[in-house]
This record gives sequence, structure tokens and C-alpha cells, in this order.
Amino acid sequence: MKPLLLVFPGMERLAAALAAELDAERAPVALHRFPDGETLVALPPDLDGRDAALLVGLRDPDRQALALRFAAVTARELGARRVGLIAPYMAYMRQDARFAPGQAVSAPIFARFLEEGVDWLTTLDPHLHRIPSLDALFSIPARRAVAAPAIARWVAANVPDAALLGPDGESGQWVREAARLAGLPFEVLTKRRSGDFEVTLSAPSARLARTHTPVVVDDIASSGRTMARAVALLREAGARAPVCVVTHAIFAGDALEVIMAAGAARVVSTTSLPHPTNAIEIAPQLAAETRALGWGAAPEG
Ligand code: R5P
Repeated sequence: MKPLLLVFPGMERLAAALAAELDAERAPVALHRFPDGETLVALPPDLDGRDAALLVGLRDPDRQALALRFAAVTARELGARRVGLIAPYMAYMRQDARFAPGQAVSAPIFARFLEEGVDWLTTLDPHLHRIPSLDALFSIPARRAVAAPAIARWVAANVPDAALLGPDGESGQWVREAARLAGLPFEVLTKRRSGDFEVTLSAPSARLARTHTPVVVDDIASSGRTMARAVALLREAGARAPVCVVTHAIFAGDALEVIMAAGAARVVSTTSLPHPTNAIEIAPQLAAETRALGWGAAPEG
């Protein structure tokens, strides 16, 4: 019996690509929202002995996470042999410290919540900064796919005269690797955030900005203000219109409009979260890490 991807609404395109990579079948996770805000989850009724994986986009994590847990428990009750989670975007990873007295440190709390429901998980470039690795966060098998090679290939093919720019120290890990793989120069700025929509960045190097096409690379565009500020500073430094590349296309509210209005030539994203900017396919990387966890392999003994 082929393994089964249980697909949350919105993730159908990535599900099709993953199913082809993993030789898996697909079935929708049906969500019904009651008028009072509760959610009813429904799965295919017979999962007896099957390897199942939930494919979830956590763009709206507070709404999705409870449904995810209901689905995971239900899959086990319906007989699934093992239940995994493929969550290309791992929410809540940025709150990895108590930045002010009394704050929740959400990353490990959310990790506990997820791992109580599933046997393993695969994600893509989680925002690991003060927490060194997925293994330091999860006690279930957890693997991290990496977008840098796909980003490097896309940049090399589409912006051959690029210089990569990371808007903050946290983006340095992805920018350095993509630049190394594409053989391109790079620069990493420093950022200070004073509010959800207020960020200050250090000035980019005018020389690099004038001799190359800047490509701003970050893992997440949420409010879009980090990307927009980087774009604005590059334009002020005399650069041509920058291209923006983001791994997880959250783009809350007016984020995309704000980035374009700042002077971006183009914004593209990986297929981690469905969005009109999707241009960089990451299904092969997610499938490889999922296979490495033994998903779909015949039961032992
Ligand atoms: C933070 O360190 C992340 O790498 C992103 O730079 C950040 O989440 C972007 O947030 P926003 O789009 O709200 O500025």
C-alpha cells in the first residue's frame, strides 16, 4: 500500500509535487469551521496500517495548529501505522528567547505541542538562531530541508550579475550559502526592530549596489517591512531595482505591496507556502528529507 499524504487546504499544489517525488497517494483533510469558530476535521475513514503524513502550511498557525493536532490523533485512531508531519514553514521559531520579562518562549512550547501528535516531521529552513538545531528542539526524528541550493540555481539563471544581500544577521546563514553555491558576492546588514512594522537596517555598500543587481534574500517576509527597508536603502544607495527572494511567503496584509512600492523589481518565493510569488520549487528537497526518515518503507519483521 502506498503511503498517504493528508493534505490541508491550500497545500494541494505542493502535495501533487511531493506525491510524485515520494510515490505517495493524496487525500484532503476536510476542515469545517462552525459559526462559533470551532473546527471539525475529517480524514479518509480507513487508514489501517498505512504510513500517513500531514502536509500543512502554517501561515495562520493559531488556526491551523489545533486542526493539525486533531488530524494527527484521528489518523492514529483510524489505524495509521505512523503519522508524520510535513510543515515546510515551521511557525513560532522566531520567538526562541524571552526578549522581555514575562514573555513566552514560544519555539520550544510549540515544538512540544507538535511532537505530542506526530511520530516525525520534515520542515524547510526553520528559523533556527539561538536554538542550534532541530534536534535541540524536538525529541522525535526531525529533518530540515535546505532551500539555498534551489535559490542559488534560480538566482544564477535569472539574475546572473547578482550580489546577494541579507537584511539581518539571522539571514546570513542562507545568504552566505546561496552566494557560495552561485559563486556570487554577498553582504549581510544588521537590523534593529522596534515594533511589528518598524525596522532599521545598516546601510548597504554603495559599491556593490552600483556594480551588481541586488538580490535581497531572507527566510521570511511577514509584515514585509524588513524586505521593504532593504529595498529602499539599496535604491537610496543608487542600486538598480532589487529582486527579492524569500523562502517562506507569509506576506501578511499589505506586505507585498509595501515591498513593491519601496522599489523592488520582482519578488519571488519558494513553494513552501502557496503564493502568487512562488517560483522556486522545493518539493524535491522536502521529499529527500522525508524519505531519509524512512517514510513509506515497508514495516520491519
Ligand atoms: C527575522 O529575523 C526573519 O529572518 C525576517 O527577517 C523577519 O521575520 C521578517 O519580518 P518582517 O517581514 O515582518 O519584517
